[in-house]
Amino acid sequence: MDKKDIIILGIETSCDETSVAIVKNGREVLSNIINSQIDIHEKYGGVVPEIASRCHIEIINMIYKEALEKANISLDQIDAISCTYGPGLVGALLVGVSYAKALSYASNKKLVGVNHIEGHIAANYITNKDLKPPFICLIISGGHTHLVYVEDYTKFKIIGKTRDDAIGEAFDKVARVVGLGYPGGPKVDKLAKEGVANISLPKTHLDNLDFSFSGIKTAILNLYHKNPNVNKADLCMSFEKDCCDILIENVMKAVKMYNVDKIVLAGGVSANSYFRNEFLNLEKEKNIKIYYPELNLCTDNAAMIASAGYYNYINNKFSDLRLNAIPNLKIGESK
Ligand code: KG4
Ligand code: ZN
Repeated sequence: MDKKDIIILGIETSCDETSVAIVKNGREVLSNIINSQIDIHEKYGGVVPEIASRCHIEIINMIYKEALEKANISLDQIDAISCTYGPGLVGALLVGVSYAKALSYASNKKLVGVNHIEGHIAANYITNKDLKPPFICLIISGGHTHLVYVEDYTKFKIIGKTRDDAIGEAFDKVARVVGLGYPGGPKVDKLAKEGVANISLPKTHLDNLDFSFSGIKTAILNLYHKNPNVNKADLCMSFEKDCCDILIENVMKAVKMYNVDKIVLAGGVSANSYFRNEFLNLEKEKNIKIYYPELNLCTDNAAMIASAGYYNYINNKFSDLRLNAIPNLKIGESK
């Protein structure tokens, strides 16, 4: 390894994935071990916070060892320990934060707290080696729907957000109602491929760059309850199309307002195949470039946290042992 290389160990435990990763210079993944608890939460139809925390505690040490082994690296070769400290489930976050603090204290390495959403954005730096700010980023995940102007690697401005449900939440709810199970996003994605967007649903357009998905979600629930024989694939496709239209409308407004030529997608819902295609089509129509993370970096993982940690590290944004979990941490808030 080159002397000038900066190696960051990342830890992610904000929801139901326990993950530890080693990333070189913010862009090169040496290891990214992810243990998903989906099977455990599936029978409850959603994440049970207390169970999530317990599962993180049980497995984090093993995941940490595996990450070092896979990267073929020892702790003394690591420059800093980064961890998600918010937003997320408080008990789940505390496991990763405490583990990172203990590791930092015992090894005398710098500690870097990372905002989970900023991590989702950074996943793009790993997949798209040439991507540099400024750009408009659309973060679409289970807990968040944010439109962000990324001015620089550690400079963010929220320019739009959902006023009610996060888009991933709407996907999960629709899936549950039509009987596809949890987590709904990938299941709706798959079924929608067999359908056509022939069902009219109410779209909420707001004056500014904010979003609202509760209307469309409720319309689907009512429609399905009134007519359980409705074609589920058509319903999923109509839902995806309308959501995507709403997203694209605001993203294009933001592109004009901020005069940028790059649109970046991030978060679990950016794995959606219909969304990825529709955004890519914009490249042909308009003079812009679209970026999104590779599929395994769309959903929660520690490589994205190590990447965001790297940019904090080189900008001297460090944390100390007082670092605490902040369940409602906002993007761009300092440590
Ligand atoms: O980013 P993420 O792993 O966790 C949060 O930070 O919230 O996102 C999880 C969300 C879930 O709502 C899941 O249903 C959704 O991402 N998701 C998808 C797809 N894959 C995951 N939604 C639509 N299409 C997909 N292919
Ligand atoms: Zn996430």
